[in-house]
Amino acid sequence: CGIVGYLGPRDAYPIVIEGLKRLEYRGYDSAGIALFDGTDLKVSKTKGKVVDLETQVEKEITKHGNMGIGHTRWATHGVPNDVNSHPHSSNSGDLVIIHNGIIENYESLRKELTSRGYTFKSDTDTEVLINLIEDVKKKEKVKLGKAVQIALNQVIGAYAIAVFDKNRPGEIVIARLGSPLAIGVGEDEFFIASDASPFIEYTKNAIYLEDEEMAIIRENKDIKIRKIKDDTLVAPYIQELQINLEQIEKGGYDHFMLKEIYEQPKAINDTYRGRLLRDEAIIKMAGIEDNMKKFLNANRIIIVACGTSWHAGLVAEYIFEDLARIPVEVEYASEFRYRNPVITENDILIAISQSGETADTLAAIKLAKSKGAFVFGVCNVVGSSIARESDAGAYTHAGPEIGVASTKAFTTQITVLSLIALRLARAKGTISSSDYRHHLLELEMIPGKVEEALKSDALIKSISQVYKDSPNFLYLGRGYNFPVALEGALKLKEISYIHAEGYPAAEMKHGPIALIDENMPIVVIATKKGHYEKVVSNIQEIKSRKGKIIGIVTEGDVQVKELADHVIEVPETLEPLTPLLTTIPLQLLSYHIAVMLNKNVDQPRNLAKSVTVE
Ligand code: G6P
Repeated sequence: CGIVGYLGPRDAYPIVIEGLKRLEYRGYDSAGIALFDGTDLKVSKTKGKVVDLETQVEKEITKHGNMGIGHTRWATHGVPNDVNSHPHSSNSGDLVIIHNGIIENYESLRKELTSRGYTFKSDTDTEVLINLIEDVKKKEKVKLGKAVQIALNQVIGAYAIAVFDKNRPGEIVIARLGSPLAIGVGEDEFFIASDASPFIEYTKNAIYLEDEEMAIIRENKDIKIRKIKDDTLVAPYIQELQINLEQIEKGGYDHFMLKEIYEQPKAINDTYRGRLLRDEAIIKMAGIEDNMKKFLNANRIIIVACGTSWHAGLVAEYIFEDLARIPVEVEYASEFRYRNPVITENDILIAISQSGETADTLAAIKLAKSKGAFVFGVCNVVGSSIARESDAGAYTHAGPEIGVASTKAFTTQITVLSLIALRLARAKGTISSSDYRHHLLELEMIPGKVEEALKSDALIKSISQVYKDSPNFLYLGRGYNFPVALEGALKLKEISYIHAEGYPAAEMKHGPIALIDENMPIVVIATKKGHYEKVVSNIQEIKSRKGKIIGIVTEGDVQVKELADHVIEVPETLEPLTPLLTTIPLQLLSYHIAVMLNKNVDQPRNLAKSVTVE
């Protein structure tokens, strides 16, 4: 999500609305604005894009005021609709808030507030937060700033918020934990935004709030920054911005794809946050719990998807069969829908789709539903067509993915599917309680290990330099890492236009081995777990035909290192989780090669982010 705010002598509206447009790359399910002129508070919000909000505001609001906050939303809790859009008001109507992030303990806070007479119009965690602030303000008889501070100390989760109180004109309170927040400091005016892009043309002076800090911004006064926990004052550090608009939107990265590759530790964490409760050894996902019987009685699971999502489906096949012992078939949605498949009421169809709009996947769902199968959607875009069409589902929470070549959507899909497989395995008793706990523990360590894997970036760049002009690449892997080989080859094809093929390593001898000579680079995934010795013999076969070997290996590997021309290490983990790590170097390899070849990384020729036609 993106947030924007203004406080100063100008009309707040044009600044906030233009700022929201710049932040739309962070999410665009719904948008809203609150404007205050010292007496009248006007709130306008709507499902859809910022331009839809603009049309609405032009009809609804005539008097703007010099104080305003706005929000563009990427839905996490509650489908995108008018009611769930921000800003949210407190029960009295005095307080308004905009919020990025997730309040994890909102359900218990909501219960408590409900028991004290508070009512809620939306399903959002944000409306709970603003009423909590109101409750504290009344109970403790404190001003807005103090009330925000006390309330935030009761909250578990992540947030960037901006709040104001109708009774305190000329004051905005902001705070952050886990979601970015920048303050633009102009002459007698302040700007607030998720990044500096909304205010870059007004001022180059910015303060970046740190985690667990809050600030009270007052018209014609200084900013007061405090630590939320212990109330200590922090001296504001104003920095001069050196970057341009485009760089800001890409978070300082050269391309969205690279930004999204680097976002994976956070994205994976966001995916299991609130769902994996390791201390209690519980996986909690409403879509699964509510339909547990169906899952336990299922004859088989059919997974349908396209492109990268289909590769995530293949990884899921290994996980589901291995851990939960449920038979799984994975199909291209386009093939499935036209081949008169045998579907019964005891089948479960899992549709995987980042966008939730892929036409073939949507059609496959409709077909399965018409035959009585239960449909479970795994989507990234909240409220998308596939999410709506499914009987139940789980979102990936990767945040907006802009680069056409999918990266963080893939790893978060695998994360969600792993959670489901583990939950079902536990319910079926096909995993021991100690193995189950071990998996949960390892899953929680994945974001840190992805971080480790990203450290090979410079090494991967130098390897890319060596092979960037090769006309062909081969990618090999076995078991859990066979789909990763397919995904690695797809990434290279998509953005560098180099022909690449992914193959199960052992199948090589039935064909692709004929292609191998001293000019052929071959990426082999050879992690310690999973058929390691067998992959090593495959590597030997390549070596004796003089192929160039790039090995993706487990940290500390010795054997492959001796045989390969290059090795890229990833940390050790449990075998079913290795795809989350081995994918990372393959994403970076394709990225660097495409950049070196001067290709349009984020918008490769002929491809679309979301294919809504057959
Ligand atoms: C397009 C995109 C791919 C994506 C595929 C499936 O081809 O370019 O990156 O994997 O569609 O999209 P979905 O949104 O259904 O995951």
